[in-house]
Amino acid sequence: METMGNLRRTHYVGGLRLADAGTEMTVAGSIAKCRDKGGIIFADLRDTTGVLQMVFDDGTDREVFAKAQSLKSEYVVIARGTLRERDAKTDKIPTGEVELYVSELRVLSAAETTPFEIRDEIKVKDELRLKYRYLDLRRPSMHEPLVLRSRICQIVRNYFCDHHFCEIETPMLMKSTPEGARDYLVPSRVQPGHFYALPQSPQLYKQILMLSGFDRYFQIARCFRDEDLRADRQPEFTQIDLEMSFVTEDDIMTLNEGLIKLLWKEILNIDLTTPFRRIPWDEAMARFGSDKPDMRFGLELMDVTDAVRSSSFAPFRSAIDAGGSVRLINCKGLAAQLTRKTIDKLGEVAKTYGAKGLAYTRLTEEGETSSFEKFLTEEEKAALRAAAGAETGDVLLVVSDANNTRACTALGQVRLEVARRCDLIDPSKFEFLWVVRFPLFEYSEEEGRFMAMHHPFTMPTEDSLDKVETDQAACYANAYDIVLNGVELGGGSIRINDPELQGRMFKALGFTEEKARESFGFLMDAYRYGAPPHGGMAYGLDRLVMLMLGRDSIRDVIAFPKVQNASELMSGAPDVVDAKQLTELHLEKVLLELINKE
Ligand code: AMO
Repeated sequence: METMGNLRRTHYVGGLRLADAGTEMTVAGSIAKCRDKGGIIFADLRDTTGVLQMVFDDGTDREVFAKAQSLKSEYVVIARGTLRERDAKTDKIPTGEVELYVSELRVLSAAETTPFEIRDEIKVKDELRLKYRYLDLRRPSMHEPLVLRSRICQIVRNYFCDHHFCEIETPMLMKSTPEGARDYLVPSRVQPGHFYALPQSPQLYKQILMLSGFDRYFQIARCFRDEDLRADRQPEFTQIDLEMSFVTEDDIMTLNEGLIKLLWKEILNIDLTTPFRRIPWDEAMARFGSDKPDMRFGLELMDVTDAVRSSSFAPFRSAIDAGGSVRLINCKGLAAQLTRKTIDKLGEVAKTYGAKGLAYTRLTEEGETSSFEKFLTEEEKAALRAAAGAETGDVLLVVSDANNTRACTALGQVRLEVARRCDLIDPSKFEFLWVVRFPLFEYSEEEGRFMAMHHPFTMPTEDSLDKVETDQAACYANAYDIVLNGVELGGGSIRINDPELQGRMFKALGFTEEKARESFGFLMDAYRYGAPPHGGMAYGLDRLVMLMLGRDSIRDVIAFPKVQNASELMSGAPDVVDAKQLTELHLEKVLLELINKE
């Protein structure tokens, strides 16, 4: 192999155009493709910015030509030559009007045949792509998202710095605190039996930074949550995290709309209209059956309880008698697409989300067929149709449940599935909204108690302050989520800055005074020395990049993501460690103490 000698790159290839023809230049990268046509050799060179055709022919120095003959895909080279206009132009690549006529070539590294081809249109198992991530990331469709992600971060940094924010790093090794997801724990070597937790978010630190007088903080922060993976969830992810003093919910939302507007303009050249819609949580649940509604299509939920209030149809009757409701969506003009078979599939979706079933009625030219044909009177059927504004060609999908949130959630999922199956979603649209006025608490069946819906530091709304201990189901929070196309992009809240109210919140969440002190004593102490009113939010950066670039999974916008069982297939993490490392951590002592306690 050769060294670069005195060749140094002068140009990246991606931006080279006809106007650059005639320029002498040195380029460097990998061979994307080679075509040896006998007397003439074409070799495409790929660098981080794009691809450029290089040419060698009978006018080329014989030694250089011989080297070009030896080139294979993925060889790493540096080449000097003159850029010239191409005879056979192509619009398949942005540099398709020019080529480099090479005068000097150095082969810096050879490459074996790769396990899959380095081009976009390949059909290869995900596992193989992840094992050879460095090869996968060479493919333009995998490479570009990371380059754009870097630009996005740069715009974010500039935006916050321009608005007087201070970028501050917070610890990766911190104290494990209750509430929230499961922590990743790190044993301490020097303090046997003691553990750090990796941060689920910088939440407590950023609040402390407000108490430290920094006024406005931001950080592009790594976060860790030991939870099950999904297309938009990784155990290790990145937040754009911010906190501000002396602000209201409106101030925070307006400032963040400015950031989103800027990003969409700079990266996608799209002019978004602000302010974004703001919908209270109750309304989002009632109209869309979700706290992160996809607003790219209609199909809104309707409460038709009154229309069937006196019905003796058992599912409706039991739901209504238990204080629940009957809700439906009118799938307008979709009768032809929503066949019995499809409706059965939709019924399975409803059941997955806790509904007992999905009733339906299909209104076709041939008449009405419905799952409650024999059980509802003609008047009740007519009342239902009238309430839904139903006409021939429509399908009504109905869920009744004693629990209103469950009825809405199940129907909300059916709504999404209908939209997907009937192609009602325009993938080119960006529909933003803020969901505001979240419940302060949510009841956990598993824990048998109310938990903080956001986190324990969230400020109750003015009208909830006197109900925190007495009527938790009726309390709301000064909390907001930003939602894009049905994905929770970010969320935040105004925080409690009054130690007494914070104490009441801990109590309402079932903390004893000792437990609250043990977990959050440092924060409660800090409040005693003057705490400005403050609030903030955090975006999932991975989700933001994914949605901006129209990708389906955050895996596509993370350099080294984890798979379903939380391993990273290229390096093979997690892995066993050697006995010495383990003994240094005194884990056996911790376990023995636990066993003895039991
Ligand atoms: P929250 O828990 O809502 O709030 O997280 C903020 C945003 O982070 C993203 N996110 C994730 N992205 C990928 N994988 C995950 N496992 C994951 N979990 C969350 C989401 C989410 O909206 N400290 C608060 C924010 C605040 O109140 O300021 C917080 O962490 O896009």
